[in-house]
Amino acid sequence: MNKEVLNVKDMHKIYPGGVHAVKGVSFYVNEGESVAIIGSSGSGKSTVLRCINRLIEPTEGIVMLKGNRINTPVVDINEIRSRIGMVFQSFELFAHLKVLQNITLGLIHVRGMSESEAEDLALSVLERVDMLDRKDAYPGNLSGGQKQRVAIARALAMKPEILLFDEPTSALDPELIGSVLENIRSLADEGMTMVIVTHEIGFARDVADRIIYMDQGIIAEEGGSDIIDNPQTERMQKFLSTWD
Ligand SMILES: Nc1ncnc2c1ncn2[C@@H]1O[C@H](COP(=O)(O)OP(=O)(O)O)[C@@H](O)[C@H]1O
Ligand SMILES: [Mg+2]
Repeated sequence: MNKEVLNVKDMHKIYPGGVHAVKGVSFYVNEGESVAIIGSSGSGKSTVLRCINRLIEPTEGIVMLKGNRINTPVVDINEIRSRIGMVFQSFELFAHLKVLQNITLGLIHVRGMSESEAEDLALSVLERVDMLDRKDAYPGNLSGGQKQRVAIARALAMKPEILLFDEPTSALDPELIGSVLENIRSLADEGMTMVIVTHEIGFARDVADRIIYMDQGIIAEEGGSDIIDNPQTERMQKFLSTWD
């Protein structure tokens, strides 16, 4: 049985100023699935993710998490943020806190854990991303790839029902991309439910269960990894030809 975790129905976003960034996007993510969203810059990918976890509100449409509508004022934003994890391209770690405290902070203040409980959990997620040995480092002394792995660990520590990635490797030097993708791949193998916006097309093809191609605010094509090798639309063919 496929258990649905996320369902986005006919999402629209018109920004103040009039840009119609998302024009009727619908998709679902089942438990344990990894869905990749690809597409040119400006096609609305980040807007979709930000509307899902309510960093911004969609102008129209419904976002369902495990069968309940979440884009409505009666649902507490903090509850949503703890059920939907988000990893950004820019890491967003606290520079004045060590790696370990970057992770325990939310557990203590949002989840109400004791310091020692939070620390145990933080250590276990740091181990999952191979960052245990840097637990006492400050973010400023880490490489971009290491920072991103800490950001992933921090998201995992909240035990989200779904994890959203917005171009997690696009701010990294090429040689640091691999280790972060490796971490995300193991999460997929472990059955984490994820939506990954990425410009790493090869990674999307290898790791994602389904791929969504967005163009100018709509889903122009979607399917299994085969759509990368056999795109049906001219615009997706054109988009992919720029990635070889
Ligand atoms: N805060 C904003 N205000 C106005 N327009 C925005 C804002 N954020 C994004 N946009 C516009 O919405 C469109 C989609 O942007 P975005 O979702 O960031 O695309 P992507 O992530 O695919 O690059 C673009 O035209 C962008 O300029
Ligand atoms: Mg974006």
